[in-house]
Amino acid sequence: MTFSLGKILQMHLFGESHGECIGVVIEGMPAGVRISEKKIERELSRRRPSGIAGTKRWEKDEFEILSGIFRGKSTGAPIAVIIRNKDVNSQAYSGKEFLPRPGHADLAAMLKFHGFNDFRGGGIFSGRMTAALVIAGAIARQIPEMKKISVKAEIESIGRATKAQGEGRMLSEISNAKKNGDSVGGIVGCKISGLEPGIGEPFFDSIESVLSHAMFSIPAVKGIEFGAGFKAAEMLGSQNNDRIILKNGKVQTSTNNAGGILGGISNGMPVVFRVAIKPVPSIALQQRTVDLKEMKEKQILVRGRHDACIVPRAFPVVENLAVFCIADLMMRGGFIGKN
Ligand SMILES: Cc1cc2nc3c(=O)[nH]c(=O)nc-3n(C[C@H](O)[C@H](O)[C@H](O)COP(=O)(O)O)c2cc1C
Repeated sequence: MTFSLGKILQMHLFGESHGECIGVVIEGMPAGVRISEKKIERELSRRRPSGIAGTKRWEKDEFEILSGIFRGKSTGAPIAVIIRNKDVNSQAYSGKEFLPRPGHADLAAMLKFHGFNDFRGGGIFSGRMTAALVIAGAIARQIPEMKKISVKAEIESIGRATKAQGEGRMLSEISNAKKNGDSVGGIVGCKISGLEPGIGEPFFDSIESVLSHAMFSIPAVKGIEFGAGFKAAEMLGSQNNDRIILKNGKVQTSTNNAGGILGGISNGMPVVFRVAIKPVPSIALQQRTVDLKEMKEKQILVRGRHDACIVPRAFPVVENLAVFCIADLMMRGGFIGKN
C-alpha cells in the first residue's frame, strides 16, 4: 500500500482525520523554486468549509513547513508540510466502528483493515486529507506558472442546477437537501490553458490516465470525462473530429471535443475535463446498515459534523491536484529542469 502520487515530482500523503495531524512530503522539487506561503494559505482558505454547504468542523488549517524550504525557496530536499488537527470531536464515532455508514468507506475499510484503522472522522478516508493535496498543488503551482500555464476549476452544477441557471438555484439545491436531512453532489469543470503541445506520454501515462488516477484519489469523485467525453459516443466521426486549422500562423483546432488531448498528449488546445462528485454519504436520515460485530441488520442515524455538499470545497482540490499532475508531466517531458 502506498500513499504516493507522481513520478518525478512526487507527493506522499500521511495523517488521519482525528489523529495528531495530516501532512504531505513532496520529493523532486528542483532547488531554487520560490514557494510562497501566502499562496499555500490562499489555496487552503478556498477549500475551507463555509456557508450552508459546509461542515461545522472549523479548522483554521495553519500549516507548518518542516523541511525543504529555506528563505522562501525550495532547497532540493524533500518538502514536508503538516497541519495539526485542532477542532477534533470524536464522540460521535465512539462505539460506532462496527456500524458502517452507508455510502462511506467504513464498510470497505473494516473489511480490509479488520478494525485496526483509525475510523474516527473517516480516518484516512476523510475529506480532511484533501487539505494536504491542496498544499502539494499550491507548492507545485510555481512550475506551470513559470510557463504561463493557468489551471482553473469551477463549479458547473450542483444537483440538478447548473451554473447557467445561477448561483441562487445551485444554493437552493443544497439548502433543500439539507432541510430534508439529505445531501447533494455536483460537477466540477477544470480548464488548463497555455499548455504547450507535447506534454503527456503515450499509453499508460497519457494526460487522461494521470489526471484520472489523481482525481479518483479525491474522496467522493465518481466520474471524469475529457472534452466531449461520454457525449462523443453519440456523435458521428464528422461531428466529433476537431477540424485542424491555422490561426495567426499557429496550428489549432476549430472545436475542442478532444479536450486538448490526442494520443494522451497535449495538442496545444486547452485541456478540459469534468469531474462528477457524489452526494455526501453522512446524511441526517435513518438508513439501513449491518452491525458487523453482532451480524444483525440495524438502523443508523449518522451524527457528527458533516458537509451537506462538498462540491464548493472540492473544486479547489480538483484544481490543485491538476496543477500537481501537470507539473509532474512537464518535468517528465523535460519541459522544466530537474536537479
Ligand atoms: C472536501 C471533502 C469533504 C468531505 N466531507 C465529508 C463529510 O463531511 N461527510 C462525509 O460523509 N463524507 C465527506 N466526504 C466524502 C467522503 O470522504 C467519501 O465519500 C468517502 O471517503 C468514501 O469514498 P468514495 O466516495 O470515494 O467511495 C468529503 C469529501 C471531500 C473531498
